[in-house]
Amino acid sequence: GGRYAGLIHRYRDRLPVADDERVISLGEGATPLIRLGNIAREYGRGCDIYVKYEGLNPTGSFKDRGMTVAVTRAVNDGSRAILCASTGNTSASAAAYAARAGIRAFVLIPDGKIALGKLAQAVMHGAEVIQIRGNFDDGMRLVRELAATEPVTLVNSVNPYRLQGQKTAAFEVVDDLGRAPDYHCLPVGNAGNISAYWMGYCEYHADGLIARRPRMVGYQAAGAAPFVRGGPVARPETVATAIRIGNPQSWDKAKAAQEDSGGWFAAFDDEAILAAQRLLAEREGIFCEPASAVSVAGALHDIAEGRIRPGSVVVCTLTGHGLKDPDIAVSQAAGRLRTVDATLEAVREAIVGQLA
Ligand code: F0G
Repeated sequence: GGRYAGLIHRYRDRLPVADDERVISLGEGATPLIRLGNIAREYGRGCDIYVKYEGLNPTGSFKDRGMTVAVTRAVNDGSRAILCASTGNTSASAAAYAARAGIRAFVLIPDGKIALGKLAQAVMHGAEVIQIRGNFDDGMRLVRELAATEPVTLVNSVNPYRLQGQKTAAFEVVDDLGRAPDYHCLPVGNAGNISAYWMGYCEYHADGLIARRPRMVGYQAAGAAPFVRGGPVARPETVATAIRIGNPQSWDKAKAAQEDSGGWFAAFDDEAILAAQRLLAEREGIFCEPASAVSVAGALHDIAEGRIRPGSVVVCTLTGHGLKDPDIAVSQAAGRLRTVDATLEAVREAIVGQLA
């Protein structure tokens, strides 16, 4: 009982943080598991479909789960600066947790290829934002080299504490559902998150808290789908900039999660991703960013095809909030905007015409 104080507090006995250590937290975790009603009724084929709405974390993405543990460890281990490459969300989260901890954050982002909300967060929280003329994979290579020689802690998901924090999302799913789902569907970019969920499910399974583990299903954007292709993609492209990644760092872990769980990888094009984003927004009132929506695009496709068996319990992770990427949202819906004179007559006509 008592006031919620973040995921380290809640799951401390399963995390590498001692009782007497200082915790850097913004109250992350404890995100809602929302049952889809309208969408499941229409497309569900008897499946119970839930979304784990990670956009409701403090900086608007699941990265906060990993960052609270990575920054807590960095600070307790004496680090004064953190470093990451990012498609946007990791940099926003790193910037916020570094501000909270009173240390510095250096973030490398692909010039012009990150969503506006994420850039706003990184600069507002006072990170040193370095835009590179290259993509995420270029940035990742550079920060790995820098962290090997400079006194900075790398907080990308190659930092094992990131995955430790992110595994708590699987704990929450089980703690909420009272069981593991039959399928857990996730967007896959750098491949840390699918690996972290699998760790979490395996840990609960080993401790006898769940009878069986879910099949892990990873969905990618068609233009950035190394797991579907079977190897790195040199020039990844997708509207879902968060997962515009061609050379995922957690390749082995994610591949093992898919194989050991009996899951699979699949890819969907930008049109399908944006259609799923709109469907969630219009039919369920849930606004996620494009990269997140690929999990629902994929799940609905695989339910329709029967690859996900009818009547299953399915959880899709919605990794980031829709407000992260206002440009994509407005460009999709711009046709719906209308402007009329500020008169009772004009406004009444605009409403009455729609009520019929
Ligand atoms: N969804 C969103 C919204 C993301 O920001 C990311 C990754 C993913 C999915 C994929 O997760 O990398 O663990 O497979 N974003 C990273 C970043 C790369 O820099 O913010 P993953």
